[in-house]
Parts: sequence; C-alpha cells; structure tokens
Amino acid sequence: MTGENLLTDNPALYEARFPDPGHLAARWADACLTAHGAGPRVLDLGCGTGRDAAWLHRAGRDVTGADLSAPMLAHARTHHPGPVYLRADLRGFDLPGPPFDAVVCLDSALLYCHTNEDLDGLLSSCRRALRPGGLLVAEMRNGAFFLGSTELLDAPSSGGFAWEGTAYTYVTTLTVDRAAQLLRRRRVWTSDDGSAPVEQESAWRLLFPQELRYALAAHGFEVLALHDGPGPRTSPVWEGEAVPAGAGGPGRADGDRLHVVARVVGD
Ligand SMILES: C[S@@+](CC[C@H](N)C(=O)[O-])C[C@H]1O[C@@H](n2cnc3c(N)ncnc32)[C@H](O)[C@@H]1O
Repeated sequence: MTGENLLTDNPALYEARFPDPGHLAARWADACLTAHGAGPRVLDLGCGTGRDAAWLHRAGRDVTGADLSAPMLAHARTHHPGPVYLRADLRGFDLPGPPFDAVVCLDSALLYCHTNEDLDGLLSSCRRALRPGGLLVAEMRNGAFFLGSTELLDAPSSGGFAWEGTAYTYVTTLTVDRAAQLLRRRRVWTSDDGSAPVEQESAWRLLFPQELRYALAAHGFEVLALHDGPGPRTSPVWEGEAVPAGAGGPGRADGDRLHVVARVVGD
C-alpha cells in the first residue's frame, strides 16, 4: 500500500467505505439552505469526492467544490461532474467569482482547523466569500460528546473489507489530546496484497458548542441553529423531517454530532 492517507488518496475507496446511497448529507444541507432561504450559489468546502456538491448541482444550485486533496478533486471532476472544482485550503482561501449565497462544510471538514488561528482563517475566509446575509451550514463531530464519555476511547476498534480483489483490515486507536483539544486517530492498515502495513495519523479539533458560537459571533455570524441532531450522521438518522429554523437558542448539543447554521450579519 502506498500514500499518505489510504482513503483520501483513493476517493473511490472512500465512497465505498462511507456509502451515502440516499444522499442524506446533501439532502440535509439542501434542507437547511431551503429552510433559511439561501440563494443558489453554494460553496462546498472540503468537498471530498464531490458527491454532495454534484447532488446539490442536480438539485438546481450553482455549486463550487473546494478541497486540498488533488486525488479527491480529480475524482470529483471525473465522477461527479457539474460543479466547478477548485483546489483551496479551508483554513484560508480567496476564490474567484461573485460572492456565494452559502458555504456548506460537511462530515467534520471544519475540524481540520486544529488551532484557533486555523478557525479564524476559515471563518474570515467564509465571511469574505459570502454575500451579506449568506449562510454557513456545517456538520461535524461534537467536542462536548467527549466530556465524560469515553465509549469511543476505551479500546481500539478494528474492521475489514474487500475492495477490488484486496482484503483490507485496520485497527484504530482514538486518543484525546486535552491541551490541544484534538481527537487523534492512529490507524494501522494491513492488506493481503503482500505490501507492508501502513500507519496513518489524523486529528480533528474538539470544538465545543459555546466555543463555536463565540467564534462565529467574533467573525460577524449570527447563529440560526445549533444542535446535535437529527442529522445525516446521527443515530437515529435524519429522515427528511423539517430542520430547525429558529433563532438558535440553547438547543440540545451534547450528542456525537454537532450541526450549525449561521448567517452573516450586516455587510
Ligand atoms: C471527511 S472528508 C469529508 C468530505 C466530504 N465533505 C463528505 O462529506 O463526503 C474531509 C475532506 O476534507 C479535505 N481536507 C482536509 N484538510 C483540508 C484543508 N486544509 N483544506 C481543504 N480541504 C481539506 C480532505 O481532503 C477530505 O476530502
């Protein structure tokens, strides 16, 4: 096996490992955009394979997908055409073209902002990229879930699957770096194709609901909804019901996933 990240270096494998046959993530994002009256021009930040961007495009939106991974972008252009795909770092970007009506950031892509500076970079870039009144819709792991809950941390987890004639197995260990507020993942892959095991390290910011509110307000966003579900990756999963469209009060936000909709205030 080669590559720095088996999944993001192999987008087809990524889609096989994390199937979303009902396009729940894109449908949920679209429901949020519709509930809050967003215009058609949408940026999918950390768009990955492009499957959500392409679904939003088919739903009639004018979509740009942005990602840092060249293999992901190549896959998106070939397999999920329609949107414009651009290479950009979500921690600081300036994209060409008119302002966007909305930015969507799905499946914890926002948590690649490991530091406060990264998060400031993302939010100030989104603010620049959005028109006045534009929306940010994001869905991610919830840092608050890990306060007092160790169920994901207690023991390594393992699994396996076959893809294109090769059997892959993996052992995953999650740890919390408390001072850095990072969830660190160490994953060791083995395969039956004779190649050596591959060890990969990833990390996600453990971002807390109040912290996210504070950062959004500091960057000129008003929170319209902040809650732990239902969403496209919760249990029970979102099934198309109305998404919260209220004033963003202190809703329940201690589950495994955090969902936020925020609007640029003023100009
Ligand atoms: C978990 S995947 C989510 C992909 C997609 N949003 C989805 O829901 O299927 C995270 C994506 O973020 C991208 N990514 C990681 N760091 C990034 C960065 N600094 N700037 C832009 N994209 C980044 C990865 O390449 C990957 O495609």
